[in-house]
Amino acid sequence: MAKANANYLKLKAGYLFPEIGRRVAAFAAANEGAKIIRLGIGDVTRPLVPAVVDAMRAAVDEMGTDGGFRGYGPEQGYDFLIDLVREHDYASRGVEIARDEVFVSDGSKCDSGNIQEIFGLDNVVALTDPVYPVYLDTNVMAGRTGAAGPDGRYAGIVYMPATAENGFVPDLPKQKVDLIYLCSPNNPTGAAAGRDELARWVEYARAHGSIILFDAAYEAYVSDPAIPRSIYEIPGAKEVAIEFRSFSKTAGFTGTRCAFTVVPKGVTAEAGGERVAVNGLWNRRQTTKFNGVSYPVQRGAAAVYSPEGRRQTGDIVRFYMENAAIIRRGLADAGFTVFGGTNAPYIWLRTPKGLTSWDFFDRLLSQANVVGTPGSGFGPSGEGYFRLSAFNSRENVEEAVARIGRATW
Ligand code: MLT
Repeated sequence: MAKANANYLKLKAGYLFPEIGRRVAAFAAANEGAKIIRLGIGDVTRPLVPAVVDAMRAAVDEMGTDGGFRGYGPEQGYDFLIDLVREHDYASRGVEIARDEVFVSDGSKCDSGNIQEIFGLDNVVALTDPVYPVYLDTNVMAGRTGAAGPDGRYAGIVYMPATAENGFVPDLPKQKVDLIYLCSPNNPTGAAAGRDELARWVEYARAHGSIILFDAAYEAYVSDPAIPRSIYEIPGAKEVAIEFRSFSKTAGFTGTRCAFTVVPKGVTAEAGGERVAVNGLWNRRQTTKFNGVSYPVQRGAAAVYSPEGRRQTGDIVRFYMENAAIIRRGLADAGFTVFGGTNAPYIWLRTPKGLTSWDFFDRLLSQANVVGTPGSGFGPSGEGYFRLSAFNSRENVEEAVARIGRATW
């Protein structure tokens, strides 16, 4: 009989966001007419900007001509996009990235989930807690962990708590770890790592032969010029870090799908006593399992770097950050303790009166008809916290804040 991958049975029953969707659908069915405002999943709401739409239209037209038709593209992405990434995201910040170090993809969720495939099962994985669930779940699926204990922690994973008590700056692991997932600006806490904090991680990784998997999907939301947008702004990081970037939150591509991962050729891991460049392994993985992002979508992504594209997408990022400021202020005025929301589109709050994250979710939904994300869904240290996203219309954000202010807990 065929054998299932039993590691999947170690996972919690459902992925966090579908579970939220299920509860919201049940509430909506039982409360017809309730005007539910969704500040849960971090999905953008503003349309694609005109610069992107025009570029995609032109690319589709081109594909409909004999001369402009394209079949399979390079699995790693077209050079026209890769060169823009190198120039605008890196060279402009003093970082040299080679063409063959950039891999265009259909999302940072896929890349940050798939990257663990190129590493051995015997690596010790360290995660901040709370954390974007994809990093943990994909390592559970691969068999890099034991079962989850009663405290929700999986055996074999090194958890690094990030809570109000340590200012959302997790301590370096006491033991030696091999793979370290970091996300800054952070999903879910909204905290952004400063230069010194990142420098400590790079130093740790260099001293221990570890690799940092750095998720910078929210870098466009950094407003503080002192906060690095890329881990490669830290000297020495190009030998120890892989970076994930996305057009999803930067340019409204959550449904359009385009992202990229930078795997510098200096990043190495050990195999059979030899040092192996992981760039080649990722290239091998991508060329085997992925056929690239469609040409029109890559043209749309390239248009994000045009002067109009930068202005138009910048306006949208500013709009969402104004939403974040409204949520932060409104909740603080209503007596909540709030974090994040200044360099990230997420507001992280303490649940009132010691409510569990899911109890607060249920009360918020029933009393205010507002959907958020329970902190415990991001890990044991997220218990007692709750995430609200700034992705919605101004009207809905203001209405949600007013309703939360009127609710009783
Ligand atoms: C979230 O809400 O955490 C995001 O939607 C995650 C993602 O981008 O996949």
